[in-house]
Amino acid sequence: MISYEKRIAWFNQARFGMFIHWGLYSLLGRGEWTMLVERIPPDEYAKLANQFNPAKFNADSWASLAKESGMKYMVLTARHHDGFCLYDSQVSDFTSVKTAAQKDFVAEYVKSCRKAGLKVGLYYSLMDWRFPGYFDRKKYPDSFKAMAKQLHGQVRELMTNYGKIDYLFYDGEWIPGVPRFRQTGSPEIAKLWRAKELNQMVRSLQPEIIINNRSGVDEDMDTPEQVVTASKTGRAWESCMTMGASCGWGYIKNNPTFKTTAQLIEYLVTSASSGGNYLLNIGPKPDGSVRKEEVTRLKEIGKWMKVNGESIYDSERPPAMTAQWLGGIIGYINTKGDNLYWHILRWPGKIASMPGIKNKVLSATIMATGQKVKIEQAKDGRLFLTGLPQEPPDKNDTVIKLKLNGKLAVSDCDGIPL
Ligand code: GLC
Repeated sequence: MISYEKRIAWFNQARFGMFIHWGLYSLLGRGEWTMLVERIPPDEYAKLANQFNPAKFNADSWASLAKESGMKYMVLTARHHDGFCLYDSQVSDFTSVKTAAQKDFVAEYVKSCRKAGLKVGLYYSLMDWRFPGYFDRKKYPDSFKAMAKQLHGQVRELMTNYGKIDYLFYDGEWIPGVPRFRQTGSPEIAKLWRAKELNQMVRSLQPEIIINNRSGVDEDMDTPEQVVTASKTGRAWESCMTMGASCGWGYIKNNPTFKTTAQLIEYLVTSASSGGNYLLNIGPKPDGSVRKEEVTRLKEIGKWMKVNGESIYDSERPPAMTAQWLGGIIGYINTKGDNLYWHILRWPGKIASMPGIKNKVLSATIMATGQKVKIEQAKDGRLFLTGLPQEPPDKNDTVIKLKLNGKLAVSDCDGIPL
């Protein structure tokens, strides 16, 4: 098997990806959990498939939006908890190929990702709400078994029929009444889904693939949801997040609580500066088009990434305390080689000061304008950047690139070891 370092390398360089939640639930406009939350019986819910015939589906435009935003990979819900496949499955009739759309959306999506030079990720939910055995496996043991069999069959199809898949994002592994610990693995859950066998099969079909930690086995990376929480050094992680407040990954028609571009950039920066990735979600409309609230924000992030992307891609992870102290209240820092990037989100005006740098700072440049900044380094280790513009050169996050005379070295601040 390819070593962990080798197979995870592209992921750690990428730092920024697009999550796409799209399926029958998009028609309802209340998020992807509607079937369960509103207790819609499976056969009534299944009728939605007769209406799911998206006129504006265009995977190329999804991929070019991701690219324009500075993202390096995408993850599409090939099948969510409702069991509806956006691809051609031989082990289920509940698919977009066998119903109104008569289309294999996964095939088109994979093609578009590749064409755009993006890594290809597929999301697949282990659970399927249509099986009574999922909710009560003691009462309906055969139903649970059939669901697990479907899982193995469908993952095999996804890993066999679409060429190289770079990333498998499992979800929905939790089972009523069974303890779940995503950070350390959940042996009982893994056993019920036969996850070790499943992932072995995946790796034999896709030797370079990376697999997330949501099958009961910890595999390649952690996946904090809606929060940015770093894993221990050496372990890859990715924070996935909706643009709207809290729940609802699928299209929510009336959603007044979108995060601002500055907030989204802040999440991207905090992920990258703690050695993690940011997987930002869109929930396309039922017709396949992307709503303007999402497009606007992604394009604004893209503009910012064009100028400041080098501070995000392949960024390193300074020790947590260092990053906190050095960035200050006004922002965050991260490093790459001998460069230190100071992300200033809360612009201080003419002077910015940072404590505790031992290195000589050779130059300081505002990335948004190219302006060189005057450097003063006091004996006590404090660094002052002076003559800065009064107003923030970038209203979202002004990045100042500091060239150091070596790798970042810090002293302690007031006796607080960094
Ligand atoms: C949760 C939700 C699911 C969503 C996922 C994204 O697990 O159940 O709807 O797809 O988060 O990470």
